[in-house]
Amino acid sequence: MPQIAVIGAGYVGLVSGAILSDFGHNVTCVDIDEDKINSLKNGIIPIFEPGLERIVKNNYYYKRLDFTTDIQSAVQNNDVIFIAVGTPPADDGSADLQYVLAVAKDIATHMDGYKVIVNKSTVPVGAGQKVKAAVQAILAERGADYAFDVVSNPEFLREGSAVQDFMHPDRVILGAESDRAISVMKEVYRVLYLNETPFVETNIETAEMIKYASNAFLAMKITFINEVANVCEKVGADVQKVAKAMGRDGRISPKFLHAGPGFGGSCFPKDTRALVKIARDCGESISLVEATVAANDRQKLKMVDKIAGALGELNDKTLAVLGVTFKPNTDDMREAPSLVILPELVKRGAKLKVYDPAGRKEGDWRFAGIKDSLTWCGNAYEALAHTDATVILTEWNEFRNLDFDKFKEIGAGAYFFDLRNIYDKKSMVEKGFKYYGVGV
Ligand code: NAI
Repeated sequence: MPQIAVIGAGYVGLVSGAILSDFGHNVTCVDIDEDKINSLKNGIIPIFEPGLERIVKNNYYYKRLDFTTDIQSAVQNNDVIFIAVGTPPADDGSADLQYVLAVAKDIATHMDGYKVIVNKSTVPVGAGQKVKAAVQAILAERGADYAFDVVSNPEFLREGSAVQDFMHPDRVILGAESDRAISVMKEVYRVLYLNETPFVETNIETAEMIKYASNAFLAMKITFINEVANVCEKVGADVQKVAKAMGRDGRISPKFLHAGPGFGGSCFPKDTRALVKIARDCGESISLVEATVAANDRQKLKMVDKIAGALGELNDKTLAVLGVTFKPNTDDMREAPSLVILPELVKRGAKLKVYDPAGRKEGDWRFAGIKDSLTWCGNAYEALAHTDATVILTEWNEFRNLDFDKFKEIGAGAYFFDLRNIYDKKSMVEKGFKYYGVGV
């Protein structure tokens, strides 16, 4: 069985490493962040991801999973080295490859035999070849002649359901240039292979493009229904019904057809912008994706207009904001719609009382610039007390069943902005709320 190292113990690396160890492999997770590695060794999981803690602790206990900052030993003691570091957006929209290439160089500096170097980070088309060139250059400097393969194995897990997604993927993509690498990777994913998960074997460039095309398509689908929702509001149609009926068409599917405040997160915003850049760089354009990026930016501000339009002056208003993470079941706030919507509400004079089941830690520094107008609360009802309006920004399950009888008692206002459409407009109006959804 191949011995596995995963470099970068973030959302993707930690989940991948933990589950591959659960599949029976010996896995070493490496990170430059010493605090993170020490926490993991002490059973403290640095991210909020349902189901992950048990898997990490169990496999660490049985010594199938280990954590280290020592990349040299991790490279030398393992055959398959996953790169799962961040590829944040650079100023021009492209994915910044500096962390990936730094790891590639580290691997080349320490390798002492055949290695399969697996790009799990989302990287632009051509990055696999850059990794290969970076490794070759260092090996040449070292006068070393070790064989190696680069594999593109993009990851499709969703934060919040990452464990399930990694264990039951719709497909595994393997982009490689040798049969040797493909057969090693099939050993890595033996459990999935035996479960008859579809495997797509292709070249590195195609694998890289599959990831961007998939993410951009999903982002486009969300944006499409958001724009349909905006029109629905004007013409008296109900986007919920429209989406449901559309989704019954097998060619469309109901997934990613929920109108809302715009997509966020660590993937869709940066991957759509990166695909636009990839297209431009090769003299092409993907105008649908360009339009998606622009429409998504507009959608977040439209939510502020919706709130301000209904409430009038925001100067003397206090709003209860429920949810700030980009989606439920995660503590991740990267590019969350709240990062645009909350500061804009404050700019227009509103005071905010905010509650999120997992977003406080990151939210504290992300909202440092508006801290004078923002009060963190310990639960939904504390946030709702003595406010003019409720804004549901993230559809955490605990917001789906609010006790409306309490609203009057604690002085929560009648305005209810349900930016995730988790309540039924008719019954909310019957309860006496001034209800505003998205496209309903
Ligand atoms: P992250 O920021 O959570 O984790 C990256 C980790 O890499 C950090 O812990 C950092 O300390 C570590 N790191 C950076 N440089 C290092 C180095 N030289 N050596 C060792 N460790 C190093 O990032 P995340 O979200 O896990 O994303 C990783 C990649 O996976 C990105 O390319 C992202 O686009 C992609 N991806 C992310 C998904 C997600 O839902 N978060 C889903 C699918 C793909």
